[in-house]
Amino acid sequence: MVYKIEIIREGIVSVKIAVASDHAGFPLKEFVVKLLKNLGEDPVDLGPSTPERVDYPDFAVRVAERVSRYEVDRGILICGSGLGMSIVANRFPGVRATLVDDLYLAKMSREHNDSNVLVLGGRLIGEGLAEEIVRVWLTTKFAGGRHAERLRKITTIEREVRKIDWEQEKHE
Ligand code: RB5
Repeated sequence: MVYKIEIIREGIVSVKIAVASDHAGFPLKEFVVKLLKNLGEDPVDLGPSTPERVDYPDFAVRVAERVSRYEVDRGILICGSGLGMSIVANRFPGVRATLVDDLYLAKMSREHNDSNVLVLGGRLIGEGLAEEIVRVWLTTKFAGGRHAERLRKITTIEREVRKIDWEQEKHE
């Protein structure tokens, strides 16, 4: 399968992708779920299941939490602009959510940033471009090397920030 990604963790090949949206991303989310199935993936659709108005943080959490806990390998989040989903997802440890609206960013987000959550703007791009972005994002490998060192720095920052007592800092 050309587009199959294989992520090997502890010898087990696992390819779990969780997908969610808000109402503004709902039509594109339905399209992306179908696309992933056509590509041979077995996506976990975390909703919503209807186009009713919902709040994007509630659905960003569903995907970001699972990626952060290694319950799935990757996630795809879609809201109107992609901005809200990105803001929420990037609050979770280990989540590297990247808002992508062209093929260069799709490639760079994987090669340089090892993106594990793809964020799309349902009001920003059409199905044709979304399909190409998803294909590139799924198949581009992380380059490692100096980029891996930079990701380690992000992890260090994440840990240091968690230790800060913000209430105390505010008054100093
Ligand atoms: C919903 O109207 C819209 O605000 C939401 O989909 C997203 O774009 C937020 O960042």
